Amino acid sequence: MRVKATLLLLSIALILVGCAAIVRSQFDSAYGTADPQRYASPAPDPGDTWQGAKQVFDHRCVLCHACYDAPCQLNLASFEGIARGESKTNVYVARLRAAEPTRLFTDAQSPAEWRKKGFTAVLNERSRDGDLQASVLYRALRLKSEMPIPSTVATAADAPQSCPAIEEFDRFAADSPHSGMPYGLPALAPSETGALAAWLEAGSPHAAPRQGPI
Ligand code: HEC
Repeated sequence: MRVKATLLLLSIALILVGCAAIVRSQFDSAYGTADPQRYASPAPDPGDTWQGAKQVFDHRCVLCHACYDAPCQLNLASFEGIARGESKTNVYVARLRAAEPTRLFTDAQSPAEWRKKGFTAVLNERSRDGDLQASVLYRALRLKSEMPIPSTVATAADAPQSCPAIEEFDRFAADSPHSGMPYGLPALAPSETGALAAWLEAGSPHAAPRQGPI
């Protein structure tokens, strides 16, 4: 009986891994393969779109996404945190062994180094054509606008944390349609969504990212 259950779980796991690989190759053929170094040298910002986007991150996102224990370890308080992306490792879960620290600016210095530590991108690291559709950040906002929920008290502390990579996003949206961002809060105003989309569409420009501790 136990063998049967194990085999069943194993085949489900293999199917899920297989699905993610298929979706990844669909993204690859639509927008090219991901380049984790893309935001190590960000695009120039002649339209100053970063300032508009930063205001929205500061007003609507850092409330939850700024500390070490932010959901998905996604730190939206700086460009470097956004370029680092998200991790499925929960910082405050009970564990038997010491976890590797993941301090921004300290434990790794570039998005490519963070990828080796299990972080996945929330910005599109493929070609410019995918800057909206292949971005987890944009998809999380769009999910909210498609599935807004009434304003309730946000309880991010006990919210589930799936932290889907872009290849997993369709499945996540189908399973958790009310998990769009900002979580448990009203959707962004059209002008706020516009400011974030304008920044993403401009290629997420920024001055050269900071390297190393303050
Ligand atoms: C009230 C707290 C809260 C606020 C405010 C908030 N988030 Fe989140 N965020 C969460 C939680 C909780 C998760 C984990 C959800 C999951 O993966 O199931 C998350 C996860 C994410 C993820 C990872 C992908 C995903 O959907 O899980 C992205 C990207 C994200 N947030 C972007 C944003 C942006 C952009 C804003 C501001 C517009 C924002 N969040 C505001 C709580 C919040």
